Amino acid sequence: MSLKILGTGSYLPPKIVTNADLAKTLDTSDEWIFAHSGIHSRHLAGPDESTVTSAVRAGRAALAAAGIDASEIDMLAVATCSPDYLLPSTASIVQKELGCVNAFAFDMAAACSGFVYALEMARGYLTLHSGTTKALVIGAETLSRIVDWHDRASCILFGDGAGAAVVGCCDDGVDGVCHSYLRTDGTGYAHLLREGGTHAPIAEGPRPAPTLQMSGKPVFQFAVKALPNVVERLCGEAGIATSDIDLFVPHQANIRIIDSAAKRLGISRDKVFTNIDSVANTSAASIPIAVDEAVRAGRLREGMNVCFVGFGAGLTYGGILTRWPYL
Ligand code: COA
Repeated sequence: MSLKILGTGSYLPPKIVTNADLAKTLDTSDEWIFAHSGIHSRHLAGPDESTVTSAVRAGRAALAAAGIDASEIDMLAVATCSPDYLLPSTASIVQKELGCVNAFAFDMAAACSGFVYALEMARGYLTLHSGTTKALVIGAETLSRIVDWHDRASCILFGDGAGAAVVGCCDDGVDGVCHSYLRTDGTGYAHLLREGGTHAPIAEGPRPAPTLQMSGKPVFQFAVKALPNVVERLCGEAGIATSDIDLFVPHQANIRIIDSAAKRLGISRDKVFTNIDSVANTSAASIPIAVDEAVRAGRLREGMNVCFVGFGAGLTYGGILTRWPYL
């Protein structure tokens, strides 16, 4: 029994905010933001949108692309660090909205590595429960509701959106093509952090909404090492050279991180998928949005060596190397 990505989908809120728009209220410029990150614009959720609504739209699109009914989904995972509520899970509400009546649903909290982590959980679950089992894996974020819009060193990097993939079993006879490597370095947990949990007792009086706090430099230094290390490890396990990767789909955090990794790995720029200029960093949604765009652009063809790598708060990192569309 083989595992296969049966369909992908994504959703970006219609509202587009350019660097020039941000520069109207923030001491920044289009030139600075683009030179330091590769970002020109991002999509931000409208007042009636949230992580649930984006996840539902992306999930619905992936189900349609896979040609399956929501009731056929057994496992529904939503990777997010900007859930609608701390409790219940975003996935529970998405399950209701999509009508995945036969699915167990949970959130994956691994920040920007969340989609890769959740895809690997789906691979494990489907391997244990083979047959007709199917999983819907979604990465969805509304980061515009958690960033500090006064902090020019962080808010300029992020955007909103969602991406999704349906994974299912098939009998195509393509097995053992997937390699994965997932890790966490908790020593760096404070570099990307948002308060609001149970760390401290409830304070007296009104409290400001907690926002994302980021130390850009250590995160950058971590990412430029983690990204190539994961790819080298995956290629080593698969017995291929890094230059044999046909499409590299990294987390879209910063074009300088992506370019530095591609250079070190000897992966030519035409084999690296990027959409950071218009989508920015959408954390757990970043990789599935990019994958869906790559599918729709005809850049993912059967048999290609494809590598997804995520890294982010935790510090989490990890990747999957596979022969598209098999897992
Ligand atoms: N516009 C204009 N100037 C800005 C600015 C902005 N939006 N943000 C910061 N600056 C200023 C700083 O205040 C600093 O000024 P100073 O030299 O007078 O003190 C100067 O630009 C340089 O700041 P620095 O922090 O050294 O810039 P950088 O080149 O490291 O880039 C980041 C900052 C945030 C873009 C970069 O560190 C980064 O991308 N880090 C990784 C973040 C990330 O990927 N997070 C998500 C991980 S999943």
